[in-house]
Amino acid sequence: MAISTFRASLLKGFLGYFFLLCGSSISHGQTPVNVYDRCSTSLEGYWKYIVDPYENGFYNYRLEAFDEQDNPSKNAFFTDSKPADRSELLEYDFDLSDSIYVPGDWNSQKEKLFYYEGTVWYRRHFDYTKQDSSNRVFLYFGAVNNRCHVYLNGIKIGQHTGGFTPFSFEVTALLKDTGNSLVVKVDNKRIKEGVPTLNTDWWNYGGITREVSLVETPETYVEDYSVHLARDKPGTLQGSVLLNGSLKAGRQVQVRIPELQKSIQVLTDDKGMASFSLPVDTLRLWSDQDPKRYKVILSTGQDSVSEWIGFRNISVKGRDILLNGRPVFLKGISIHEESPVRKGRAHTREDARILLGWARELGCNFVRLAHYPHNEHMVRLADSLGMLVWEEIPVYWTIAWENPSTYNNAAKQLNEVIRRDKNRASVIIWSMANETPTSPTRTQFLTDLATLTRSLDPTRLISAALEQSALNGNPKIRTIEDNFARVVDILSFNQYIGWYDGLPDKAREISWKIEQEKPVFISEFGGGAKQGLHGDKYTRWTEEYQEFLYEENLKMLSGIEQLRGMSPWILVDFRSPRRMLPEIQDGWNRKGLISEEGIKKKAFYSLQKYYLTKE
Ligand code: GCU
Repeated sequence: MAISTFRASLLKGFLGYFFLLCGSSISHGQTPVNVYDRCSTSLEGYWKYIVDPYENGFYNYRLEAFDEQDNPSKNAFFTDSKPADRSELLEYDFDLSDSIYVPGDWNSQKEKLFYYEGTVWYRRHFDYTKQDSSNRVFLYFGAVNNRCHVYLNGIKIGQHTGGFTPFSFEVTALLKDTGNSLVVKVDNKRIKEGVPTLNTDWWNYGGITREVSLVETPETYVEDYSVHLARDKPGTLQGSVLLNGSLKAGRQVQVRIPELQKSIQVLTDDKGMASFSLPVDTLRLWSDQDPKRYKVILSTGQDSVSEWIGFRNISVKGRDILLNGRPVFLKGISIHEESPVRKGRAHTREDARILLGWARELGCNFVRLAHYPHNEHMVRLADSLGMLVWEEIPVYWTIAWENPSTYNNAAKQLNEVIRRDKNRASVIIWSMANETPTSPTRTQFLTDLATLTRSLDPTRLISAALEQSALNGNPKIRTIEDNFARVVDILSFNQYIGWYDGLPDKAREISWKIEQEKPVFISEFGGGAKQGLHGDKYTRWTEEYQEFLYEENLKMLSGIEQLRGMSPWILVDFRSPRRMLPEIQDGWNRKGLISEEGIKKKAFYSLQKYYLTKE
């Protein structure tokens, strides 16, 4: 069976459920989307933790998993046990262990865990009384990097793989009014079949890196919904809504947009699903120039949820990217999810405000959130700022293309980020991959991901950082011969002329010959500089060298007729275990236009000046 047929059959088994319902990214059996507008109780704070590199709390000495036993031993950390009497032997005790803050990675909180890659157990005690006895309760995680097993009151409630997307478990039946014990086993070891795989150029921050909360809903609630501008019917909004609960079928759902004096009643089918169209005569479209959003309220029975949604259309036509039918140039910058203030994984609204604030100061109308889905505050803030967004999953470099579980992992992460962000006007591009070596299995893997993405969300564009190459072996003429270029809507690629490829003035000898009649987007270019290091423009690591590189690259790239945007690498210096040059890198990738202390380098102003010419 060919890889893609085999994978497609796996996919249907694994994700077919989502297509079955509605061919879009809304699906059953999960926490309500938009937890921010829900009755939720945060579990933020100090949790106990135990570092467990030999997974002694998960396996017995014969490497048998405790949670596969009928009556798990008290040695299993998830039982959160204490000795029954002074004689009993137990070799762990959460109460006597150290504490760590959640949300937050462990690397930047605990010096002894700075480089740690392995298992850490977290334990949180909490009391919980439901607001109404008939309500349901879900345990929600914004993200855990990278794999986790979750236990409540000694019972395994589930596990999740993927370090950058939300997940949840219903805990209604397990909760006690007092003394709940939540235990989470987190493992951030890099593995070859993982997504990402073993080699990355970013810090492998482990831990419960985003918020954890208990989300309470009525027995039958609005689990999922999408509302967007119809692509082929101007002046029409389209949407779907999914209920969950015993009363989900044949139920009235009201969708209201008060500012437009619009309201519609829809009836759900036997699966709790309903789709709708809503003609709107006067609609202010969302754009980077005018990020207009409308409050949309969806209600059924005792449940009501609301969301501020911008309505816009994004498409490509020949060489142009059209936002609401108008050609737009994407004045972008790439960003890693690191907090410029606290260091470590960014996860707060304040982190988002700083990072997107710097992007705006640079003159950007676009950000590439590299190389994995960032926290939800980033895309919600981008919605309100009018910042267009490229989101991607960490299909990065040398992924195990032949491995079906690797594909399912990537597909699931795509599904989860599309499910989370499908109502975000700012998100215009889903990227399938970054700098992946071309091969038939790699291109099939990416093509299958693109097919899945278009089935889940036909309203956005698809891209990937493709491979560029020398035309007919002539290194002075560059082109795109990557087979995946046939599939994407936007031709994106990374190029490092002046850094990994010659010196900055080499850009004067290079021309680009791109045949495809599609928009071209430079997803990365750049070079390193140690902030505050000055010298002549040919001295590597000086701010002058980086400035010279930007100026020569911007001139060269402006010669590409189909150029419709760029996201130079990168806004801020970021941690990487690959960058160990003493006194210059010291564990930091120095390609930022801003240092990790928030100080701008000279090249920041070169790019800012260029973007002013693109107004
Ligand atoms: C690559 C890669 C980035 C990396 C950058 C660099 O293009 O996509 O993740 O950090 O090069 O070498 O700095």
